[in-house]
Amino acid sequence: MEYRILGKSDLRVSVMGYGAWGIGGAPFWETEGEASSANSIEKALSLGINFFDTAPVYGFGYSEKLLGKTLRKKRKDVIIATKCGLRWNREELKSLRKQADRESILQEIDLSLGRLETDYVDLYQVHWPDEKTPIKETIDTLLEIQKTGKIRYIGVSNYSVEMMEECLKYGQIVSLQPMYNMLERDIEQEILPYCLEHDIGIICYSSLASGVLTGKYDENTRFTDWRSKDIIGHFTDDVYVSHVKKVRDITKISKKLGKTTAQLAINWLIHRQGVTTALVGVKNPEQVEQNIRAVGWKIPDEDLNTITNILEGRRM
Ligand SMILES: NC(=O)c1ccc[n+]([C@@H]2O[C@H](COP(=O)([O-])OP(=O)(O)OC[C@H]3O[C@@H](n4cnc5c(N)ncnc54)[C@H](OP(=O)(O)O)[C@@H]3O)[C@@H](O)[C@H]2O)c1
Repeated sequence: MEYRILGKSDLRVSVMGYGAWGIGGAPFWETEGEASSANSIEKALSLGINFFDTAPVYGFGYSEKLLGKTLRKKRKDVIIATKCGLRWNREELKSLRKQADRESILQEIDLSLGRLETDYVDLYQVHWPDEKTPIKETIDTLLEIQKTGKIRYIGVSNYSVEMMEECLKYGQIVSLQPMYNMLERDIEQEILPYCLEHDIGIICYSSLASGVLTGKYDENTRFTDWRSKDIIGHFTDDVYVSHVKKVRDITKISKKLGKTTAQLAINWLIHRQGVTTALVGVKNPEQVEQNIRAVGWKIPDEDLNTITNILEGRRM
C-alpha cells in the first residue's frame, strides 16, 4: 500500500480508502449481509487500507455503527472520517435535508462519536453545502468542536471554489471530498487547481462511478436502487449510455494490461495530479482483494494517451 499526507494535516492516508456508504445498505444500497460487510472492513485493514470514510446518513447510522464495532480494537491504527450536515426526520430518502448550523452540528458530532464507539474523529467533513446557513457559522462551530478534541481535522464535501474560499477566511480545511472518476471529471476545471494551489487534499468519491467502472453494466441495465433516482452521477440518461460505451473501450486496455476494469480505473485516479486518495465502496472481502491490486504500478504512457482519447470522445 502507498500512503500520502492529506492536505495540511499529519494524517497519512492510504491512496485507496474504504468507502462505507455501500455497507450502510438501505435506503441506498443492498448489502451482502453484516458478516460480509464486516469481513470486507477487516480485509481492507489487513491489506494496508487505513482510511475509512463514512457518514451518519449511510444506512441512517448503521454504517458508522458497523465501522465502529469492527474497528474498535484497532482504533489507533486507523483514520476515521465521517460527516455532518445531512439530517433526517424519518428513515426515508425524501426526509433528508441539508443542515449545517451550530445547533445541529453540535448534536451530530456526539451522535457520530457514540455510533463509532470512539471519543474522536480524525476528519470531520461537511457532507453537502447548506445554503441556508452562513459558512462562517458552520466553520466556527467545527473549530469550537476541534478545540474540545472531538475532531482532529476539518474537511468539506461537494463544495465549490467560492465556498472553499469562504471557509478559508475563518479556518483551515484540510480536504475536499468531490465526485471524481474517469467518467466524471468536472472538478478538473476549477476545483482541482484551486485545491492544489491551497494544499487542500482531494478525497475522490465514487471512484468506480458507483459500479459502472467495474464494466459489469451495459446500456440495458435498469437500476432499481438509488441509482434510478438521479441523485448524483449518471445512471439513466444518454450520458449513462455514452459512459458504458467508454467503459467497454477502457476494458479492452485493462485486458491488454492483465488488469480488471476497476483496477485500471482506480490506478488512473490515484495518479491524477492533486488526488490524495480514492474512496472505493465494496460489499465483500473478495472485492477488496481485487481492487487493492490497483495500487503499486503505473499505466504505460502509450495506454494513458489512449485512455485520454477514449474518455474525451476521440476514439470509440
Ligand atoms: N461525499 C459524498 O457526497 C459522497 C457521495 C458518494 C460516495 N461517497 C463516498 O465514496 C465512497 C465510494 O463511492 P460509491 O459508494 O459511490 O461507489 P464506488 O466506489 O464508485 O463503487 C462501489 C461499488 O462498486 C461495486 N464494486 C466495487 N468493487 C467491485 C469489484 N471488484 N467487482 C465488482 N463490483 C465492485 C460494489 O457494488 P455492488 O457489489 O453492489 O455492485 C461497490 O459498492 C462511498 O462509499 C462514500 O464513502 C461520498
